[in-house]
Amino acid sequence: MENEFEKWYSCTVDREELLKLMERSNKKGIVQVTLHFTILILLGVLSYNLIGTYWMYPAFFAYGTVYCFLNHVMHETHHRTPFKSNGLNEFVHWITAFAHGAEPIFDRWGHAQHHTYTYFPDVDPEVPSARPIKISIIVGQFFGIGIIRPIPIIKHALGIVDDYTKNLVPESDWKKMIWSSRLWVLAYLAIIGFSIYFLTLLPLIFTLFARFYGAFIPSMLNHTQHVGLEENVYDHRLNTRNVKINRILSFLYWNMEYHIEHHMYPGVPFHALPKLNNLVKDQLPKPYKSVWAAYKEMIPTILKQQKESDFHVTPILPEEKSTNSKTEFNKREETIFQDSEAKWISSIKIDDLKSNDVLPFKYNDTDYAIYKLDGHFFASTAKCTHAGALLSKGIVIDNTIECPAHQGRFDIKTGKATHSPACDHLQTFPTREKDGYIYIGLPLISN
Ligand code: FES
Repeated sequence: MENEFEKWYSCTVDREELLKLMERSNKKGIVQVTLHFTILILLGVLSYNLIGTYWMYPAFFAYGTVYCFLNHVMHETHHRTPFKSNGLNEFVHWITAFAHGAEPIFDRWGHAQHHTYTYFPDVDPEVPSARPIKISIIVGQFFGIGIIRPIPIIKHALGIVDDYTKNLVPESDWKKMIWSSRLWVLAYLAIIGFSIYFLTLLPLIFTLFARFYGAFIPSMLNHTQHVGLEENVYDHRLNTRNVKINRILSFLYWNMEYHIEHHMYPGVPFHALPKLNNLVKDQLPKPYKSVWAAYKEMIPTILKQQKESDFHVTPILPEEKSTNSKTEFNKREETIFQDSEAKWISSIKIDDLKSNDVLPFKYNDTDYAIYKLDGHFFASTAKCTHAGALLSKGIVIDNTIECPAHQGRFDIKTGKATHSPACDHLQTFPTREKDGYIYIGLPLISN
């Protein structure tokens, strides 16, 4: 696949600081998820007890709202960022995807594509509508219409993989996706069957129906993320909004009001986004002061687009203070020697690479990533096999390198792709230490 990720603008952030921000924490994730579900359960109990009174309407609205914000828990787990433990990420991913009405494998692939081609309407599966924005779609989503997409799940459950899915999901994941879709259909049918058998709507009211009556506030926030901004540009500052919101909404929204930062650095977990914002805010457009401030711009824009389809908002960018820096490897005189095993190239200084970290190295226009794990050095090609992001900008987690673009992972020692959306393996190279440098061994080319 073409290297899309490296086309995107990124703000200048010190790598050390970024690595700290990208650290995962089980504790922070568990606290946030537990609180989210506790609020949901308490509101559920309250709503149930208020059935038959007028108070049930606001109570169910509050319950449905918190329920629909589970979408943002699922979203965070799409990126595997809320917890350090991968098992916890996956467990919460599947639970919240079910609550959201999404099949987790298909939805995760769609979201990866959204990050690769943010607001490129022809290829971004999460754009509600290309310009001119269809008002009916936007309004419908306030009431949950068009958010749950049962047709692909049913098709996949029947074993049908159409061209749209083929473009999104690699063949290696079809089997898992098909079985997961079957499980999903059975589980939803079980809820419906339970309701019919016991002649009660309650199981549906607390699950699937909540996706509709609670959609208003989450959709209101979701629309602020991109609607009305520039399309087809490789700069999240031009196609994504940051909007200030109150603390309660921020909690339920999992800090997605820092949406530009999230798109630029999706490997940074929700809890570190405010800190990231502090580091880069001078390089971003000013955030909208409120949701209303965003809608005051969005509504006239959408209306004007109905007549002038190209009309859009172009955010004002701050003056560039520094260049869009790329991490540069300290240049040095290159040393090359050859033996029966490989052609050995001197890369980076041993002392420059910290334990459990990665640094870039370029040779003959090829990008390499050099790693240090428990005192040993490893090397691989640096371009992620999914969409070409540079793994040397990623983070080392448990003997794997995590891609900064969509959080795919590779085993550093073997190059094996271990976490989607990475599927194809990396090429790895032997390393040697000599004269204070790490040498990587490139294969000998036979004549
Ligand atoms: S570019 Fe998508 S996981 Fe690396």
